[in-house]
Amino acid sequence: MQIVSLVSKKGGAGKTTLAVNLAVAATKAGAFTIVVDLDPQACAMAWHEQRDLEHPLVVPGKPSELMGLIALADMVDADMVFIDCPPGDDTAAREASAVADLAVIPCRLGVPDLRAVEQSVALAEQAGTPAALVLTQVPPRSSLMPRAQDLLAPLPVDVAPMHLTLKNVYNVAHLEGLGLHETDTDKNAQAEMQQCFAWIKDQIRPIVGAEVVRVEDDKTDDARLLTASERPVPFQA
Ligand SMILES: Nc1ncnc2c1ncn2[C@@H]1O[C@H](COP(=O)(O)OP(=O)(O)OP(=O)(O)O)[C@@H](O)[C@H]1O
Ligand SMILES: [Mg+2]
Repeated sequence: MQIVSLVSKKGGAGKTTLAVNLAVAATKAGAFTIVVDLDPQACAMAWHEQRDLEHPLVVPGKPSELMGLIALADMVDADMVFIDCPPGDDTAAREASAVADLAVIPCRLGVPDLRAVEQSVALAEQAGTPAALVLTQVPPRSSLMPRAQDLLAPLPVDVAPMHLTLKNVYNVAHLEGLGLHETDTDKNAQAEMQQCFAWIKDQIRPIVGAEVVRVEDDKTDDARLLTASERPVPFQA
């Protein structure tokens, strides 16, 4: 099972949009996929309620319930889990990143957003989880792109070689409970999302014997999942 958290300090960065669209892309690729909606605003849940299709599943949860939800996802043999975090909630972002194989940080192409990324990267680093950044809502031919690359270069985060362009189809699809791949209006936007999904899959490090590894929790006697920093060193091919 692969777990991806979607985190950003800034609101409106594109966490929910990425969570549901990556989940649709994973579902289309044949993966049993679950989105865990940790946001009290429940935007991923609202998206799912508009859908006729059941998959990807979307389940609500609180940060304190995350371990149990991940254990449940494993019990039902989920292949991929995307955790949609609320903005500005360090506890949720920290816990989601701690259980994730990869913390994906969406970021709009604006200077305050680019500067705020550092905090999300630091949270992932503290959790011992690799971080990957995707620029979202990028206006066509933006002159800020080279500056963004300069601002991001010193950070310990892999920046996606592609970005997601600012397009109306995102809002239309969200309103109808669809992923971009389920609309037939914008092939370029679909291609961007597909490339983004493929790149994110590539960033997930293979973890030896740690598909799900449980350890006994000293304090509670309950089994719990290993956090990313406790897992064995990834296998290097
Ligand atoms: N590439 C895009 N082009 C146009 N609109 C977009 C794009 N990506 C996201 N949006 C829109 O931007 C808004 C914010 O996106 P989204 O809800 O995914 O952000 P978020 O990070 O989850 O926000 P929050 O922090 O409030 O949870 C939504 O209206 C969404 O439809
Ligand atoms: Mg959201």
